[in-house]
Amino acid sequence: MIEKINNLLLEIENVEAANKQQVEELRIKWLSKKGEVSTLFDDFKNVPNEQKKEVGQKLNELKNKAQDKVNTLKEKFEFEAEASANQQIDLTLPVLPLFQNGSKHPLTLVKNQIIEIFSRIGFTVSEGREIEDDWHNFTALNTPENHPARDMQDTFYVNLNPEMVLRTQTSSAQVHIMERQQPPIRTISPGRVYRNEAISARAHCQFHQVEGLYIDEDVSFADLKQTLLYFAKEMFGNETKIRLRPSYFPFTEPSAEMDISCSICKGNGCNVCKHTGWVEILGCGMVDPQVLINCGIEEKKYRGFAFGMGIERITMLKYQVKDLRLFFENDVRFLKQFVNA
Ligand code: DAH
Repeated sequence: MIEKINNLLLEIENVEAANKQQVEELRIKWLSKKGEVSTLFDDFKNVPNEQKKEVGQKLNELKNKAQDKVNTLKEKFEFEAEASANQQIDLTLPVLPLFQNGSKHPLTLVKNQIIEIFSRIGFTVSEGREIEDDWHNFTALNTPENHPARDMQDTFYVNLNPEMVLRTQTSSAQVHIMERQQPPIRTISPGRVYRNEAISARAHCQFHQVEGLYIDEDVSFADLKQTLLYFAKEMFGNETKIRLRPSYFPFTEPSAEMDISCSICKGNGCNVCKHTGWVEILGCGMVDPQVLINCGIEEKKYRGFAFGMGIERITMLKYQVKDLRLFFENDVRFLKQFVNA
């Protein structure tokens, strides 16, 4: 018996465990009800009386050593697990942001860029109203009731008394500006406009425009052309060319539409420019003297030019967006492409 105890003591002293699982196995082997130590205790009753004292002491020593060894090994593995868990958390690191940053909407990016380009050549930013009266949206702009040009824009009417409209064009901002300010005037007015159109890849019932207005004593068509050329080059690249085609708007005379050389195929012909090498981006002209009169500006003393462009159109060309509806759906997969734009 003494020999068995000594062997076991030796084993306990020298044994090693590789992990927590093995420690538990040792505990079961030695100390469980049917374990080796417990069995020796059971056998104790067979020990002759004269040896009982010595064997009893040995047995107690054995039990304590087994228990100590199990505890020590257990602690070792617990400590190691804790240390490695702590290693993964470096409390001195700066906090990681939980969410990805949002991004500016592509229309906002382009609007800001347009504002920046024109402000470099002295244009201020002004705003009109989205709900307009008939005078500011149409009549003051030389488009009285029953004028055929009203058909150019399908209008949303707001049932109020007097009747109001959702503005169909930012040109209405021109009227507000001229009513409250005498020349020189050099300003752009970005904003949202509405038209009663069926929604498709190329048309929407709401979109954005930027209106430009320059009124002073000696403003000429050459000034208009040069201003727009500057804008086109800044917006689409220095190699961009412009082309002015005669057109009609009730509030400008003469009127023109401006094309830029296609920024996608560089004028070689593609789907976007319908193989012409040119894409239309805005309407413009010299402010009709009747509009100056309507807004209380001396038409003999002052002249001016105006232009209006669609922000969606410019954005589509700049970022090659093929479907107008994407701008209004707010699909994150679309929007997040502009994070670093
Ligand atoms: N308001 C016109 C439109 O929505 C665009 C426009 C054309 C604005 C000529 C102007 C201009 O200021 O001179 O189609």
